[in-house]
Amino acid sequence: MKECVLVTGGAGYIGTHTTVELINAGYDVVVVDNLSNSDISAISGVEKITGCKIPFEQVNCLDKAALDKVFKKYKFNSVIHFAAYKAVGESVSEPLKYYHNNLGSLMTVLELMQENGVKNIVFSSSATVYGQPEELPATENTPRQKANSPYGNTKQIGEDIIADTARATEGKITALALRYFNPVGAHPSALIGELPKGVPNNLVPFITQTAAGVRDCLNVFGDDYNTPDGSALRDFIDVVDLAKAHVVAIGRLIAGKNKSVYEYFNIGTGKPLSVLELIHIFEQVNGVKVPHKIVGRRPGDVEKIWASTDLAKNE
Ligand code: NAD
Ligand code: WQD
Repeated sequence: MKECVLVTGGAGYIGTHTTVELINAGYDVVVVDNLSNSDISAISGVEKITGCKIPFEQVNCLDKAALDKVFKKYKFNSVIHFAAYKAVGESVSEPLKYYHNNLGSLMTVLELMQENGVKNIVFSSSATVYGQPEELPATENTPRQKANSPYGNTKQIGEDIIADTARATEGKITALALRYFNPVGAHPSALIGELPKGVPNNLVPFITQTAAGVRDCLNVFGDDYNTPDGSALRDFIDVVDLAKAHVVAIGRLIAGKNKSVYEYFNIGTGKPLSVLELIHIFEQVNGVKVPHKIVGRRPGDVEKIWASTDLAKNE
């Protein structure tokens, strides 16, 4: 029988791409999403790409009774938990919204896993847990720093909640956190991609919307950093590669190849690219102009970060 995976937040940017790769790898998938930052058309995109009907449940992960029904309706032993809010700036002005949704959803999922005997969970963490590392590239041993935002704090606390739960249940729950660097791009079919609601906060959807004429001009936040061209350096990873990393991660837990009940891995390319370089490459590859101007630094931004990918590669 095929293994089935519950994907929470599966109508979102990374969730849709991961659902496609899970199906390509032979898994069955059940998607739960409350569509707070996505549209149901994203599920149609996944269905067109895969040729499979995707069981979709419009449920809020905070609603324990409704989510329990999903746990009882489908037979699965693994969860990939994407469901969360992710706008860094909004989390500063509305911290409780972020703590409530991101931590409440995670704890509800973990409680239901325990109550329903579901073993494996892969969690969406973030390079934001490292803040500005003193040494680069950031390895998994790079110390975490006090989070720059309530959003970032939900990822740190989320990792801790999962680690404590995995240890306390002595292996009844096994967990793996993936610390994503900067996911970008879209499935080559263009049937799914990154379509946040409202004005994008992240660089690449702002670039694509500016190139398409939806936005007038891209603000480049800072050209006075201590970097080769003065703009910030990031590790931009193709979202399909990131999606495939989830397939490997869940397969590792299912096969029991994990080395402890809680593991965490960086997922990036290991190659830094500057904001200005990214804009210029986008313009060249697509033969379009992206109107942009330099403005001041964005508060809370780190100057440079990229991943050491050794652990993920070796494991
Ligand atoms: P996204 O907003 O596109 O997807 C998240 C999905 O979760 C959305 O479809 C939203 O409707 C859903 N959701 C939110 N709260 C929910 C709830 N309570 N119940 C049910 N569904 C809910 O975001 P994404 O970029 O796909 O990010 C997925 C995960 O990866 C998030 O946890 C995010 O914090 C994390 N992450 C993202 C990035 C990035 O740059 N995109 C980087 C690091 C980590
Ligand atoms: C990248 C670079 C901006 C927009 C954030 C979160 C992190 C993770 C990914 C997700 C920065 C610059 C951006 C714009 C710009 N979160 N930029 N003009 O800040 O590396 O990481 O998203 O869940 O936790 O902190 O990503 O895409 O916002 O910015 O110049 O309009 O692009 O200043 O240097 P970031 P980003």
